[in-house]
Amino acid sequence: MSTGVVIVAAGSGKRMGGQRNKLWLPLAGEPILAHTVRLFATHPDIDEVVLVVSEADHAEVMTLISAEKLMVVITMGGAERQDSVRNGLASLSANCDYVLVHDAARPFVTRKQISDMIKQVQQDQATIMAVPVKDTIKVVGVNGLVESTPARESLWAVQTPQAFRMSLLREAHQAAGEAGKLGTDDAMLVEWLGHPVSIMQGSYENIKITTPDDLWFGEEILRKRKG
Ligand code: CTP
Ligand code: MG
Repeated sequence: MSTGVVIVAAGSGKRMGGQRNKLWLPLAGEPILAHTVRLFATHPDIDEVVLVVSEADHAEVMTLISAEKLMVVITMGGAERQDSVRNGLASLSANCDYVLVHDAARPFVTRKQISDMIKQVQQDQATIMAVPVKDTIKVVGVNGLVESTPARESLWAVQTPQAFRMSLLREAHQAAGEAGKLGTDDAMLVEWLGHPVSIMQGSYENIKITTPDDLWFGEEILRKRKG
């Protein structure tokens, strides 16, 4: 049984508002990207790592990976996250039975959560990390008025990693590509095939670093973990 991971890092970090990809911003003195890649590349349950980057970051990523002596295959991203994942999948070897897809912008997933997810995907074929939403969520129309309020008990905020049987995720990406459909996560593409997707309860610490306020929260998470 072999498991690969596709780490997508080919965004530009617009919502962070900086000059370059947010993944170069420091967290405990090191780029966010370094934290995430090291976590997966040194994980005993992960056999292959594909890192998807943009043209603009390629040279610097190569320097980082070789300085750390990590076993990572680097490939190029696309305009949308879905394009980046598809490119990443194409770079994983045919040996992989299962694949995890992970946002480089989520450096706080734990080793144990990764191991648990690999166990769960072997049973369920498609499983995603998520947490129950804390806020009441409203559906709002283009006129700015509330249309409805879904029952909070049924709402989960979805994170990565998301894990799939490799053949299932490849099929899902191919089908979405042929239909010209763009999903906001990988599970959505699998749902479109009519395949069940299970939830693995994640943690509220597994944030995606998106806006500047996430940086100080991230520093606090690391400080707390160091003890
Ligand atoms: N990503 C990617 N390829 C894209 C877009 C996003 O690989 N074309 C990656 C990002 O690098 C990130 C992850 O997908 O690790 C989640 O995306 P997000 O947090 O939205 O990052 P960005 O798209 O870079 O940020 P923004 O949406 O604010 O521009
Ligand atoms: Mg984005």
